[in-house]
Amino acid sequence: MYQELPSLCKAYEKYFKIGAAVQPQNLTAQRNLLKKHFNSLTASACMKFGPVHPEEYRWDFADADAIIAFAKENGMGVRAHAPVWHQQTEDWLFTDRFTFADREMILDRLEDHIRVMAGRYGEDVYAWDVVNEAIVDDPNGYMRETKWYTLIGEDYIDYAYRFVKKYAPKTKVYYNDYNEFNPAKRDNIVRLMRGMQERDVPLDGFGLQQHVNIYTSLDDIKAAIEAYATLGIELQVTELDVSLYHPKDRPNPYYPYRPTIPTKEDFIRQGKMYEDLFEIYRSYSDVINSVTTWGAADDLTWLDVHPVPGRKNYPLLFSYDHTPKPCTRAIVEAVL
Ligand code: GLA
Repeated sequence: MYQELPSLCKAYEKYFKIGAAVQPQNLTAQRNLLKKHFNSLTASACMKFGPVHPEEYRWDFADADAIIAFAKENGMGVRAHAPVWHQQTEDWLFTDRFTFADREMILDRLEDHIRVMAGRYGEDVYAWDVVNEAIVDDPNGYMRETKWYTLIGEDYIDYAYRFVKKYAPKTKVYYNDYNEFNPAKRDNIVRLMRGMQERDVPLDGFGLQQHVNIYTSLDDIKAAIEAYATLGIELQVTELDVSLYHPKDRPNPYYPYRPTIPTKEDFIRQGKMYEDLFEIYRSYSDVINSVTTWGAADDLTWLDVHPVPGRKNYPLLFSYDHTPKPCTRAIVEAVL
């Protein structure tokens, strides 16, 4: 007989928070699932610079407000996410009439943006991914040449963290990045954060995005957690999902379209990966205080459109009909 699964987040209370990244549509489509199994929410898009502040004198707080209100009603924590990123910023931010804005103007705009966001949400968020994805994937490179970097300079990072701490002193500030388990990139991320520490830039933690797939090396993941932990900062898993496809498996999405269908073995491998990951996270629960999946259930996942538009993926802990996967049950049972 079908046994109702006990709450995932309650089962994990003594280890870490269990989070989901959401947009307002999740709050309606996945309401009961979120209420039962999650005690943390991340605003997946609506707290990024562009969506919340589309024009210099226009703000759109509606979506972020809805997420904060839902979290409060249900006693959940909130993670704010990614004002300083190379995507989802509008051109006005970097523009002064017909040319690029200069360093001072962009820094003023950033400070003003952070002041308003911190004033509105600072008390309600327990962690804030301030700068997102500043390091390149190329093992021979270092910082990503974004508009922030080229128009302000390397110290855009220091300013961003100082602004957040100035206006939201109680919020924990995080740096967040992906492919963080790749050894070469990991070392560059450590170098970036160590540099911040040496310059006395406030930094409370690192967010391991953990966008992994069924082939990702668990040894690399453990080594990465170890490396970040040596910095003496907190860690959170911020964007976990386990893709059923290898990153190089990108069939031509155009005509003649042949969708890739994951096999039963792929799902078994995914379940094993999830169980192993949670075992690793538990063993580092002295440094990891929150584990967030990028979405809540397979009916709403960015991996349906990325990197292959229209290729269905099933990367989360709950199926498209919101039932728990066998691995989710095992993850709960492991701690009961
Ligand atoms: C990155 C970002 C997230 C989100 C995902 C795709 O991981 O950090 O904010 O945009 O890409 O959904």
